[in-house]
Amino acid sequence: MFNWKFASNYLKHYLTAKSRHGVHSPFVYQLIDSVIYDFSAKGDYLPIEQIRQQLLQSKTKVTIIDLGAGSHINKNRVKEVREIAKNALKTPRMAQLIYRLVAHLQPKNLIELGTCLGVTSLYLHKANPSAQLITIEGCPEIAAVATKNFEMLDAENIQLLTGNFDTVLPEVLAKQQTEFIFIDGNHTEEATLRYFNWILPKAYDKTVIVFDDIYWSEGMKSAWKKIKQHPKVTITIDLFWIGLVFFKKDQVKEDFKVRF
Ligand SMILES: C[S@@+](CC[C@H](N)C(=O)[O-])C[C@H]1O[C@@H](n2cnc3c(N)ncnc32)[C@H](O)[C@@H]1O
Repeated sequence: MFNWKFASNYLKHYLTAKSRHGVHSPFVYQLIDSVIYDFSAKGDYLPIEQIRQQLLQSKTKVTIIDLGAGSHINKNRVKEVREIAKNALKTPRMAQLIYRLVAHLQPKNLIELGTCLGVTSLYLHKANPSAQLITIEGCPEIAAVATKNFEMLDAENIQLLTGNFDTVLPEVLAKQQTEFIFIDGNHTEEATLRYFNWILPKAYDKTVIVFDDIYWSEGMKSAWKKIKQHPKVTITIDLFWIGLVFFKKDQVKEDFKVRF
């Protein structure tokens, strides 16, 4: 069913967002110019997209254990992999943007909340293969498919932890400082703010948090608004589909709406 509210949010964003012109922060200008709008093909994209194509054909059935906010599209417990690949994964355009951010920022430690079939995990890994990437997935049968995909691309540096974000994330954060966190699951206001508040004490100058689906629901919009207002947060970049949060102390607090 067509979601009018989402479409009107998109239109509003499109009409108020900027391209790189009119952005005065040199840090944000450079990020837009050489990372966000770098649409050139990269050698790492193709093997991952070939895996996506295989997943889009796969009739293998998996039993879903959904620990998150669920899907707007299909709430069945048994699904074919091809349906999950069609509905739950970041598009190539978004996944490749996340790849470019990691390739540019070169974080040493990364966390992904929401492995699903492992497609964005592969992009995160290939962007900085020597970095440590921990990805968390609550559904064991989905995680098993992701593990096979990691093996196919020899992505040995990915550590997949199967369990609920609510129990696994605090354990991971207790052990290490993390520079890049991609939150792509359990899109409720309450859970999003909970994960943000857990990360906050660990966030420092180099930390970047990427929130997916910041306009997915009224709750997500409200969570994004509260995150932007937090005093520890300096720069935020709202790309409609995702929101980037920086803690850089040498930057004045500012929110940028950027067309993507
Ligand atoms: C949107 S998908 C992730 C897509 C993936 N990042 C990609 O684009 O390739 C979200 C995933 O998060 C998982 N998930 C949601 N809530 C969770 C929770 N509370 N704990 C663990 N996993 C959860 C779901 O099972 C689902 O596979």
